[in-house]
Amino acid sequence: MKGGFYGLRGKQFSLILIALVCTTLLIWAWEKTPLLTSILPPQGRLLQLSPEILLGAPVVSSISSKPHTYVNKDVSNIAEKETVNEQEQHFDVAASVDPSKSSPEISKSDSNFNKTIVLKEEIPINVTEEEEEKQKQSAEGKNSTQVKHSLDLVPPMGSANSSSSMREEAHKNMTSPKEKQACNYAKGKWVADNNRPLYSGFGCKQWLSAMWACRLTQRTDFAYEKLRWQPKDCKMEEYTGSKFLKRMKDKTLAFVGDSLGRQQFQSLMCMITGGEERSDVKDVGREYGLVKARGAVRPDGWAYRFPSTNTTILYYWSASLCDLEPLDIKNPVTDYAMHLDRPPAFLRRFLHKFDVLVLNTGHHWNRGKLNANRWVMHVGGVPNTNRKIAEIAGAKNLTIHSIVKWVDSQLPRYPGLKAFYRTISPRHFFNGDWNTGGSCDNTTPMSEGKEILQDESSDTVAAAAVKGTRVKLLDITAPSQLRDEGHISRYSIKATPGMQDCLHWCLPGVPDTWNEIIFAQL
Ligand SMILES: *[C@@H]1O[C@H](CO)[C@@H](O)[C@H](O)[C@H]1NC(C)=O
Ligand SMILES: *[C@@H]1O[C@H](CO)[C@@H](O)[C@H](O)[C@H]1NC(C)=O
Ligand SMILES: *[C@@H]1O[C@H](CO)[C@@H](O)[C@H](O)[C@H]1NC(C)=O
Ligand SMILES: *[C@@H]1O[C@H](CO)[C@@H](O)[C@H](O)[C@H]1NC(C)=O
Ligand SMILES: *[C@@H]1O[C@H](CO)[C@@H](O)[C@H](O)[C@H]1NC(C)=O
Ligand SMILES: *[C@@H]1O[C@H](CO)[C@@H](O)[C@H](O)[C@H]1NC(C)=O
Ligand SMILES: *[C@@H]1O[C@H](CO)[C@@H](O)[C@H](O)[C@H]1NC(C)=O
Repeated sequence: MKGGFYGLRGKQFSLILIALVCTTLLIWAWEKTPLLTSILPPQGRLLQLSPEILLGAPVVSSISSKPHTYVNKDVSNIAEKETVNEQEQHFDVAASVDPSKSSPEISKSDSNFNKTIVLKEEIPINVTEEEEEKQKQSAEGKNSTQVKHSLDLVPPMGSANSSSSMREEAHKNMTSPKEKQACNYAKGKWVADNNRPLYSGFGCKQWLSAMWACRLTQRTDFAYEKLRWQPKDCKMEEYTGSKFLKRMKDKTLAFVGDSLGRQQFQSLMCMITGGEERSDVKDVGREYGLVKARGAVRPDGWAYRFPSTNTTILYYWSASLCDLEPLDIKNPVTDYAMHLDRPPAFLRRFLHKFDVLVLNTGHHWNRGKLNANRWVMHVGGVPNTNRKIAEIAGAKNLTIHSIVKWVDSQLPRYPGLKAFYRTISPRHFFNGDWNTGGSCDNTTPMSEGKEILQDESSDTVAAAAVKGTRVKLLDITAPSQLRDEGHISRYSIKATPGMQDCLHWCLPGVPDTWNEIIFAQL
């Protein structure tokens, strides 16, 4: 009996001891955590303490603090026509105005490039770097609540083991700052650089469409080719094609999106090859079903493999980023169910083969485009009856949220996959729209300003969609917004006279930067 009694006491004693030690550890960790903020580089504070990090997910570049409200301005209301011949450049109906699109209004500024942001009341406020810093700090006045909020999200006290070990993890990650993840690439400035462009616009004929190669047109100003994006708070390693291929050994990068995604694809092919002819590169479109259907103008996409490193780069055309299903297969002029909440069949089929995925959509979301394509909105497999979703902005928002959520849900199965959602590529029609004589005639780089200092993305829909997911935001909107001189402009081949293309970019040009930002995160 006594032995049992003593045995029990021993057990109790050790239990009490363990409980004491755990509690001490917990209190210590709790006390310690706020201090972590002071070790961090200032820029990443909010980001690094975000719940995503504490829960072990990669950082997404969105910050909840919102010092400014931007006036809404349509940046994406033009459609490229997907069924037209590649050389045809006329734009089709794009009438509706989508209120969900927003962009920062950056005023024509003087030579010192003070950034001006137009508030909702349309009072321009100059935000100098110093002021920006102050505002950021006052936003960080939330620091304590932010930390507390994050801690609330780790498992409750009872599971002391996991919460403390998780905090240790987070601590490790914080003290060895991974600049690659933590910084906001959209914040920075354009600088002139003689090492640009990364390939010649006279070359790269293997991949670069003639309609986007402005060197092959009558255009005579090429200052726009010589700019490099320099992020403010992150190092961006100089891109080289060989470094890219090495990092992508035995890997596949897929672009899925509209014609702006196709531009980015062509840009990347040219960046990898330096614009040189490469007879060793294999067309592997067939592996992905990317073959030209009978009677089609072109396939739904392209896939190429670099045998030296077994690296595959592909592009798949999905202008809406949702599934399209003919309602009547036998009818050649059938309507299509546009399943807003269902990812494109191509993605569902091939996602497992991708190591890097870059999604985009935006410029096809207008009533004219949907009608012309006979796309009928469906949600949950049935025709949509929700009036909010029936509006273009609501439908687009639902699709973007759905695709991001779906990709995020797949990531545990494919832990090696890096998924990016690319924000809207801004358009620059001045004095009219695409079909009313709008133009982008400026040839002087950076005349709208050269610097972006805001923390939050200009594409609020995309930023909201990736928030809390492991899908990264490839935020190119604000930097590209400053590059009104980089569009095809009046030089589009076969353009209807008087019509300019202020949506697509000259290549080499702005989309090269988007790829550099991806490269920096590989
Ligand atoms: C810390 O980083 C490692 C690898 O970089 C990652 O596996 C781990 O999930 C991260 N932990 C947290 C809490 O973010
Ligand atoms: C920004 O604008 C303010 C007010 O116009 C001016 O005083 C200041 O010198 C400008 N900042 C820079 C960096 O030029
Ligand atoms: C902002 O800058 C512009 C030009 O740099 C100047 O004319 C204007 O007065 C400034 N506004 C404020 C509020 O500082
Ligand atoms: C963080 O919070 C503490 C306490 O609330 C405050 O004293 C400090 O100034 C804050 N830090 C910043 C950078 O706002
Ligand atoms: C940690 O706590 C969880 C409950 O949150 C429990 O399931 C798990 O077994 C514990 N792990 C260890 C090693 O005690
Ligand atoms: C090329 O990479 C893929 C994975 O992307 C792998 O399955 C395949 O075996 C590789 N081929 C060669 C020849 O190494
Ligand atoms: C966009 O969709 C998400 C998810 O469906 C929703 O939470 C959010 O309120 C929507 N935003 C807008 C502006 O409609």
